[in-house]
Amino acid sequence: MEIIYRDGLARIGKFETPHGSIETPTILPVINPNIPTLSIGEMVALGSQGFITNSYIIRRTEKLREKAEKNGVHSLIGYNGPIMTDSGTFQSHVYSDIEFSNSEIINFQRKIGSDISTILDIFSEPDFSYEKAKTAVLETHARMQELPKIDDTILAGPIQGSTYGDLRKLSAELMSSSQAGYLPIGGVVPLLENYRYDILVDVIINSKIHADFSKPIHLFGGGHPMFLGMAVLLGVDVFDSASYVKYARNNRMLFLDGSRELSKISSLPSWSALYGKINVNELKEAPQEERSRLLALHNLSAIFTELNEIRERIFQQNLWQYVEAKARTHPYLFRAYLKILEYSETLEKYEDLSKKSSFFYFDRYTDRNPFLLRLKRHTEAVTGNDTGNSTVLSEEHWHPGRPHSEKLVNLYEHSGRNFLLKWQNQLVPIELEDTYPVEQIISSGKLTNHLDGIGEGPDLQDQAKSFTRKDINTAVPESEYPVRSYDLEKVRKIADFQFGIGTGKVLFPEGCTVTRSRSTGRIRGIFYEEKLIATQRAHDGFFTLSIDGAGMLHKSTTMPKHRIVVTNDTAEFNARGFNVFFKFVVRNDPDILAGNEVLVVDENDTLVAVGKSVTSGSEIHFFKSGVAVKVHRGAQQGTEKLAETDEKV
Ligand code: GUN
Repeated sequence: MEIIYRDGLARIGKFETPHGSIETPTILPVINPNIPTLSIGEMVALGSQGFITNSYIIRRTEKLREKAEKNGVHSLIGYNGPIMTDSGTFQSHVYSDIEFSNSEIINFQRKIGSDISTILDIFSEPDFSYEKAKTAVLETHARMQELPKIDDTILAGPIQGSTYGDLRKLSAELMSSSQAGYLPIGGVVPLLENYRYDILVDVIINSKIHADFSKPIHLFGGGHPMFLGMAVLLGVDVFDSASYVKYARNNRMLFLDGSRELSKISSLPSWSALYGKINVNELKEAPQEERSRLLALHNLSAIFTELNEIRERIFQQNLWQYVEAKARTHPYLFRAYLKILEYSETLEKYEDLSKKSSFFYFDRYTDRNPFLLRLKRHTEAVTGNDTGNSTVLSEEHWHPGRPHSEKLVNLYEHSGRNFLLKWQNQLVPIELEDTYPVEQIISSGKLTNHLDGIGEGPDLQDQAKSFTRKDINTAVPESEYPVRSYDLEKVRKIADFQFGIGTGKVLFPEGCTVTRSRSTGRIRGIFYEEKLIATQRAHDGFFTLSIDGAGMLHKSTTMPKHRIVVTNDTAEFNARGFNVFFKFVVRNDPDILAGNEVLVVDENDTLVAVGKSVTSGSEIHFFKSGVAVKVHRGAQQGTEKLAETDEKV
């Protein structure tokens, strides 16, 4: 699939099927061909881009089977867009054996023209023993492997493995390397029904991070609006659900934060498809069949309303904040959110260098956000965890976007010590003051252990005495002569954070010049021997490298550090400034962060361009189509000049 926007593991993507494309994240409503509840037109109007139906039920029901075999499943359903079919695994699981083999059921799905056909996988229950779950994984894989090469339908290869992380990993790897083009996470219906979203977090993460990132990930049965945001945050692209109908039949209504009984509500929410068309009393009094139909319509509108919000959050790159806030709407969601926080270190690898939206700091739980862990890890590496040798400044010294007092800069420049800012619940090097998320933060201001016993233990800042403004004003400089320049140290320390400790000195050697924007006073460009090395971006404080800057980074590192290696044949296009496509990438540094600057080199390690990586280094090799690096300068385009609006300082 093609990724259009990303926000960590979450993505707005698009994939093709024989009957048209599907934009994710989305849900395929379940259609029971025996008892259609809503019309296709009604569901399309709510946002459905495709449907899922059950090939086993069609095959077993003579009337449906004849129709489907003659005119195809699209004619049977009355829809000419993407249709996925399931295999009967769930029925086989619930009613024990079914009468068709895997090959038979796949061939039937092909015959009726299904766009996405599902193999007869083995459903692995959450309470399965390890051995039984492992057998389900291996047998499911064997069933995929027994099929010939198939290209008239997309094969769905379910990931099984119960609640065992290593089995989910094994299953995800086996299915990813098979001919499956679509990867549903299976065996989770009992977890969804019992609101065990916390266990689902384990299951989804262990499946997702070992799966092929270029293939859509589907969550079988996961259609409750409550959990959609978390699932998408963890990398699920597609859902399916019969819940909109099942709940409706029991007079239950889906809401964005849970379910409610029709008899217990007094009004309809404005997002409901029923809002303004019927009032609650009329709904309660409607005949049973009509009432179920209307409730199904309401329920599906709840699902699409939530999906629209999630999609928008990915675009804004603040889905994490949405999930963090939403976790407070239900204790079972909160339990799942705590589980997500246990995986923060893992999730950090897939997080971008920075985000479009401001960072929200709510409370001590926010300390476990992947961005704060990244920053904390860096600060500890810089200080060696020894704050005794650092000057810690209280918050009053720092006004985002405004220069420091002359006194403070003077103390800094006459000292070799680390200067750290108290920021939220941690310490950050003062030089990172305008990088994301240090400056781009909106905080509750609850910076102390205001909730006793919650969150982690005491942090660095508790061990270090901090300098107040009065201390700064009375402090005597450590050395008589300046030992460093704040501007130079600042750009170096940002480079150390962005590219790794030690990079700053390489990119910005003694004698380079820092320029500032005439209008804002902020650092703009850094020059060395009259050549532009890097510009500092206003929105996130990180650097965009020039081709000369890229050359300096290139010279000081070896393959494959910071590099994306392209085929020798295509390198000349990149040298002329054209983007790098995934299909021409030969290898890459696995540690690249999405959105960070990368060196584009050919197979002989000749630097041909510099640009921004679209995905993280661990994802690149999965993709075969689309842009991998947005090139901003090719080696043949030459050195960049100082902008007219900048002045040297
Ligand atoms: N529907 C709900 N769960 C599953 C599953 O694990 N496999 C298949 N094929 N369908 C499902």
